[in-house]
Amino acid sequence: MKHAEITGWGKCVPPAVLSNDDLATFIDTSDEWIASRTGIRERRICHTNFSDMAIVAARHALAAADMNPMELDLILLGSLTNDSLCPNTASIVQDAIGARNAASIDINSACTGFLYGLHIGTNLIRTGAHKKVLVIGGEFISHYMNWAQRDVAVLFGDACGAVVIEATDKEVGLLAAKIGCEADAKYAIQITNLGSAYSRLSDEFLYVGWNFEGQEVFRRAVKAMAQACLSVLEETGVSLEEVNLVVPHQANKRILDALAKRVGISTDKVFTNVHKYGNTSAGTIPVALTEALEENRIKPGDYVLSATFGAGLTWGAALIRWGDRVTPLTLSDAEMPPCDQTALEILAPQIKRYIEHAAKSTDD
Ligand code: UT7
Repeated sequence: MKHAEITGWGKCVPPAVLSNDDLATFIDTSDEWIASRTGIRERRICHTNFSDMAIVAARHALAAADMNPMELDLILLGSLTNDSLCPNTASIVQDAIGARNAASIDINSACTGFLYGLHIGTNLIRTGAHKKVLVIGGEFISHYMNWAQRDVAVLFGDACGAVVIEATDKEVGLLAAKIGCEADAKYAIQITNLGSAYSRLSDEFLYVGWNFEGQEVFRRAVKAMAQACLSVLEETGVSLEEVNLVVPHQANKRILDALAKRVGISTDKVFTNVHKYGNTSAGTIPVALTEALEENRIKPGDYVLSATFGAGLTWGAALIRWGDRVTPLTLSDAEMPPCDQTALEILAPQIKRYIEHAAKSTDD
C-alpha cells in the first residue's frame, strides 16, 4: 500500500506583532488576564492578503522538498479567511507558485482545516489518484475580528504553514487519522453578519460579530481531541510511550495541559508556541510542525501525534511517522512584502470602527 511522506514544510508569520499590552490600550483586558487564562503573550497581524502568507509558506515547503511546482497535482488549502469566495485561494496560490498541473481546492473546517487537508491528501495519494500534494493551512483572522469583543479579540492571530506530501512505499507520513464534528454545538463558535444567510440590506451586514462560548468549546475540545488521539493510537498499535512528540492545535496553553493530562502524556512532549502567535486557526499545526523541525524536536522515524478542534465543532487527531529527513533539501528566500506599520497602526481603522459601533449599540 502506498503512503504519503511529508517531504517539505514551511511557514509564514507576518512581521507585525500585537502584544497583550497593545490590546489593553483599547479594550478592558490585561497581560495578566490573557497570559494566565490562555498562555498567549503576543500574536501577529497580517498587513497584506491571506494569499501572500500562503504563497510564502508554500514556497518554503516546496524548497524543503526540492520540488518543482509543476510536479504538484493537487493543492488543498484549509482556511476560513480566504482572499475571496470566488476565485478560491488555492487557485491564487496555484497561479503564483506556477503549479499549473495542480487541481486547487479550499477546505473550510475552521481550525481543523490543515489536519482535514492532510487526511484528505494522504488518502488521495494512498488510492493512487494523486502523487504530489501541497497541503496549506492558515488564517487572516484579524480581518474578521470584532475588536470590541474582548472575549475573542485576545485569542487569535494571523499565520500560515504548508507541507508537501509525496507517494512512497515506505510506511511513513500520516499513518492514521480520526476526524469528526459535533454539529449540535455548531453555534458555540459563530461569526455573524457575514455570509449569504445574512441580508445584504441590513445595516449590520459586515459588522462582524462572534458568538463564542469559550468554556463549552474548552470542555468539548479536550474530550474530543483526547478520544481521537487514543483512537489513532489504538488503530495503529503505537503505544503512548512510543510517541515522541505531540504537535497539537494551539488555542490555549490550558487546553494543551488538560489534553496531555487526559491522554496521559507528559507536557514535556507537547510542542507549544501559542505564547508567540495565539490561535492562528488552520495555521497552528503546520506552523508548529515547521518550528518543531527547526528546533530539532523531531528526529528521523519519530512518531508525531497531532490533535485539533475548531468551529463546527470539528475535531480530529492524526498519528504521523516521520521519514528519514528532518532538514530541508533547499531553502527559499520567499518573504511577505515589507511592512512599515506597527500592528496597532495596521488595525487602527478597524478598531475605531468596531469600538464606535459597540458604543452606538449600547446607546441604542
Ligand atoms: O480553536 C477554537 C477556538 N476556541 C477556543 O480556543 C476557546 C476555548 N476556550 C478558552 O480558551 C477559554 O474558555 C477562554 C480563554 C476563552 C476563557 O477562559 P475562561 O477561564 O473560561 O474565562 P471565562 O470565559 O469564564 O471568563 C472569566 C471572566 C469573565 O468575567 P466575570 O463574568 O467572571 O466577571 C469574563 O467577562 O473573565 C472575563 N473576561 C475577560 N477579562 C479580561 C473575558 N475575556 C476577558 C479578557 N480580559 N480578554
